[in-house]
Order: sequence, then C-alpha cells, then structure tokens
Amino acid sequence: MGNFLDGKVVAVTGAGRGIGRAVALACAAEGAKVVVNDYGVSIEGGAPTSEIAEAAVKEIVAAGGEAVAVADDVSTMAGGQRIVDTAVERFGRLDGVVCVAGILRERMLFNMTEEEWDPVVATHLKGTFTVFRAASAVMRRQRSGTLIGFTSGNHQGSVAQANYASAKGGIISLVRSAALGLHKYGVTANCVAPVARTRMSANVPMELKEIGEPEDVAALVVYLLSERARAEKITGQVYTIAGPKIAVWAQPRELRAGYADGAWTPDKIADFLPGTVGTDPMPLLAQLEAMAQAAAAQQRPNA
Ligand SMILES: NC(=O)c1ccc[n+]([C@@H]2O[C@H](COP(=O)([O-])OP(=O)(O)OC[C@H]3O[C@@H](n4cnc5c(N)ncnc54)[C@H](O)[C@@H]3O)[C@@H](O)[C@H]2O)c1
Repeated sequence: MGNFLDGKVVAVTGAGRGIGRAVALACAAEGAKVVVNDYGVSIEGGAPTSEIAEAAVKEIVAAGGEAVAVADDVSTMAGGQRIVDTAVERFGRLDGVVCVAGILRERMLFNMTEEEWDPVVATHLKGTFTVFRAASAVMRRQRSGTLIGFTSGNHQGSVAQANYASAKGGIISLVRSAALGLHKYGVTANCVAPVARTRMSANVPMELKEIGEPEDVAALVVYLLSERARAEKITGQVYTIAGPKIAVWAQPRELRAGYADGAWTPDKIADFLPGTVGTDPMPLLAQLEAMAQAAAAQQRPNA
C-alpha cells in the first residue's frame, strides 16, 4: 500500500468492473476510503445486480482497505445523491469523485431509436452530472475536492455511436464548466479518455493500436486525485492514457478568423470562406477514407 491518498474519501461510479474497479482498488491501496458504486448491468445497461459492487468492496476489504457499496443507478438524481451521502455519512467527508460508469448501444444514426439514445446519454452524461451536482455542494462547503469525468477519444465523433460520442463530448463541456464554476472554491475538475482492455473495448470493431490495462488508467486517476496534482493546479484538462502513453488534449479555440467589410451575404461568404477561413479537416474522416481505400485495394483482382 502507498500513501498517495492517505486520509481522503473517494467515490467511484462503475467501480465493479473494468476501469472503475481498478480505480477503486488503486484508491484504496493508496490509503483512500472508497464508495464503490456499480449498478451491475450488462454492457447494454440491462439486468442490474448489487453483487458486482459488493464483490469489489470485498476485494478492497480483503486487501486491508476500507470501502462501502452503493448499487444505485447513476442516471437518477437519487442515485447520485446516495453515492455522495454515503461517503459523508460513513466517512465524514468527500475529497474526490470519479465518474466511470458507462454502457453502449451501437447503431448507425439513421437507424438509432430513442431507446438506444436516451439510456446511453443518461448513463454517461447525466450520470456524471448527478454525482458532480451532489459532490460539488459538499466540496464547495469543504473548500476543496476533485471531480473526474470519463470521456473517450470518440468524443471527436463515431460512425455507429452518435449517442456515446455525444455524451462523451458533453462530459468534456461539463468538466470544463465545473472547473470554471468551482475554481474559487478550491475544487478541480478533469477528464480522462482511457484506452484499456475491458469488456467495453473488446466491443470495438477495429484493432486498437495503442491500448493498455485498467491499472494504467487507475494510476493517472490516483495522481489527479492527489495533493501532488492539486499543487500543480491541474484543472479543466482532458488526458488520454493508453498503456505507456499519456497525452493532453488541446483546449477548443478558434483556428482562423476573417472579417467582412459590411454585412455578410451568402454570396460574399462563398467567395471569401474557402481560401481564407477554410476548414480544419477531421483526422477520423481521413482515417476512415484510408481504411476504405485499403479495403478496396485488397478486393481489386491482381492485374
Ligand atoms: N475501455 C476503454 O478502452 C474505454 C475507452 C474509452 C472510454 N471508456 C470509458 O471508460 C469507462 C469505463 O469503461 P470500461 O471499459 O471499464 O467498461 P465496463 O463495461 O467494463 O464497466 C462499466 C461499469 O459501469 C457500470 N454501470 C453501467 N451503467 C451504470 C449505471 N447506470 N449506474 C452505475 N453503474 C453503471 C457497469 O455495471 C460496469 O460495471 C466508461 O465510461 C467508458 O465509456 C473506456
């Protein structure tokens, strides 16, 4: 056991499996008291069971740590509140929340139903809000705390996961809003975009070139929750961690601007925009086109 998080109380959602479980175990091993939340659902979000959260708590306790299970659904306000209340009632304070819970319902946009859209956005985006909302009220009073959201490289867009990509983009904006709104209360907010071997990443239809283990992601989360990161005033950031790689994402900003002489008209814009303000090409679209070309070349009969 280390002491990176000695004396801290941390709540982790989706902490029964995959990355969340590794985060909860690592926090406990570094001295934190942990609230283990997991609704215990299938990858699509069905068949909930409390056994998943309870199993992670048993593992933590068996290793000499302190933890309590909350098997609530993070997409409800009551669930988010119960996670935070449990931390305060059982352990007296709340220093960090890590919102890892997530589900997938993949479908092309033109076929996606409301039943595929709503639960995915509710679990990821609202499920981060419900916990941040309740936690930030406690942390504002404490004048300290750390909020961590989980996004994905897919916030850039995704062929068959418009629901997931939209939720993950929303989480980045929620984290940046939290970083801005809670700055004066000593509360930091950051986002992690992981790539790690779990049942969720096993679902990705293409080979992931850069991938690591849930424990790699847990090491970054422990650091972000620690006084070492707080001393560096790290807030409003998005970090990718994929095995040995850690990367920081750029803040969104205007790339190029142009100004009209008088009011814009569609005609003036058509003459002006392409050669000046232009576009910022999508890296993922270029990747998709390269893959389509490679597939077409493979199918072409040898000359
Ligand atoms: N694994 C990767 O490579 C990868 C890549 C990008 C983003 N992510 C993100 O990391 C997070 C963890 O992913 P993972 O791969 O460990 O997934 P996982 O499926 O192994 O674990 C997710 C956990 O969340 C729980 N959960 C689902 N809905 C819940 C709800 N409503 N309330 C509480 N708990 C709920 C599940 O029961 C499950 O135990 C997710 O937010 C995911 O989108 C993962």
